[in-house]
Amino acid sequence: MFLARVSMKNAILRHGVVAFLSSLIVLLFLLLRLDFPLSSNLSRALAEASFVLLVATMLLGPLGRLYPPLMKWITWRRETGIWFAVFALLHFVASNLNGFELLRQGREVPMILGYIALAWGILLATISSDKAIAYFGSRQWKWLQTMAYVIFYTVSIHVAFNMFWAYQDQKWLPYFFIILAVSVPTFQLLAFIDEVGKYRKKQKAG
Ligand code: HEM
Repeated sequence: MFLARVSMKNAILRHGVVAFLSSLIVLLFLLLRLDFPLSSNLSRALAEASFVLLVATMLLGPLGRLYPPLMKWITWRRETGIWFAVFALLHFVASNLNGFELLRQGREVPMILGYIALAWGILLATISSDKAIAYFGSRQWKWLQTMAYVIFYTVSIHVAFNMFWAYQDQKWLPYFFIILAVSVPTFQLLAFIDEVGKYRKKQKAG
């Protein structure tokens, strides 16, 4: 989801790495629930991999600010952001394998939040390219990318609803996802405090 000028060959390699690692995450989550029906397990594993990718995309910035050696990884936000949207779309498709229903009774709000997040995710993924940056202009493009926060908070409510209310059939996994979700605003706040600290020091020194 971010500026990264790399050669075509390099870009394909980076996408290959992220796609491969994400598929391993899907497999890992699938293996955790072998007793579940396959279509439900697949839909959830794709959703969970998608959420892990979203969290990784959102954490790279604050982690790089808090610990500068990690800044070199920030360009990977483009690949993790694009694959987040791909896996979210696959999750949506898989969740309808047993018949499409636009809104399920009693689950309208989390489903609408899911649609909003998916629509924004696909839009941001399609404009995650150097061509799009050149077309929109860097500032306007960055402004559009701040919509990632809308995705993050809408998806977090969607996930919390599905894991804690709609389907209370998993033991510890929902807590793991809560920790992931809480880590994003926590590290953003820590990075903000760190930046303010540096600024105050500079002001005093100057
Ligand atoms: C960015 C978009 C989305 C993300 C990242 C996402 C992520 C998730 C996650 C992490 C779960 C919990 C999985 C679990 O219980 O282990 C979930 C559940 C669910 N989501 Fe989504 N979701 C998205 C969009 C949607 C959309 C558009 C729909 C369809 C309206 C949808 C339908 C469901 C359903 C039905 C469940 C319950 C478990 C299942 O049957 O798959 N999601 N989602």
